[in-house]
Amino acid sequence: MSKKRVAILISGRGSNMGALIKAAKGFDYPADIALVLSNKAEAIGLRTAKSAGISTAFVDHKIYAGREDFERSMQRVLEINRIDIVCLAGFMRLLSPWFVAQWHNRMINIHPALLPDYKGLDTHARVLKDGAKIHGCTVHFVVPEMDAGPIILQSSIPVHEYDTEATLGARVLEQEHIIYPKALAMVAASNAGF
Ligand code: GRF
Repeated sequence: MSKKRVAILISGRGSNMGALIKAAKGFDYPADIALVLSNKAEAIGLRTAKSAGISTAFVDHKIYAGREDFERSMQRVLEINRIDIVCLAGFMRLLSPWFVAQWHNRMINIHPALLPDYKGLDTHARVLKDGAKIHGCTVHFVVPEMDAGPIILQSSIPVHEYDTEATLGARVLEQEHIIYPKALAMVAASNAGF
């Protein structure tokens, strides 16, 4: 079976992107990272990707009249690069139902909480504020509603009494870096008809 061509969409640091790039170096990994696309020119992840020898693209959302024009540009870049699967990894733009439909069952996201709990931003702070005992991360398919698609993999960790947003976030991030490559491998190896 030929390897699936993956694009990773980022807006910043790109540590999950780094974990996916590393995993995809395995000779039996079912996906190749063919492209890293950012909507921010200054995203650190773009530099990391370039130094790993991966093709990069920058599509600046600010120069477009609206969301759909921006997304149509991204879509062209993805099509030119013959992308099979899109991984969102800290991509900080909401996506329209039109774009999501282009990638039905072929676009996945990592979220720093145990969905369906704690959708949205600032998950670690909210978990601490609630006094929750368990936290974690989720890889899921992307659907038009934010952080709501079918779950592929989750990992949970205990919340300690002495945790701060930073310590908790760091332990969740370690888990993200483990489950995202596993989830992508599952999707890439499945016979989902793409
Ligand atoms: C991660 O916490 C991820 O769960 C969320 O955005 C953050 C991106 O971090 N979607 P990085 O850019 O992968 O380091």
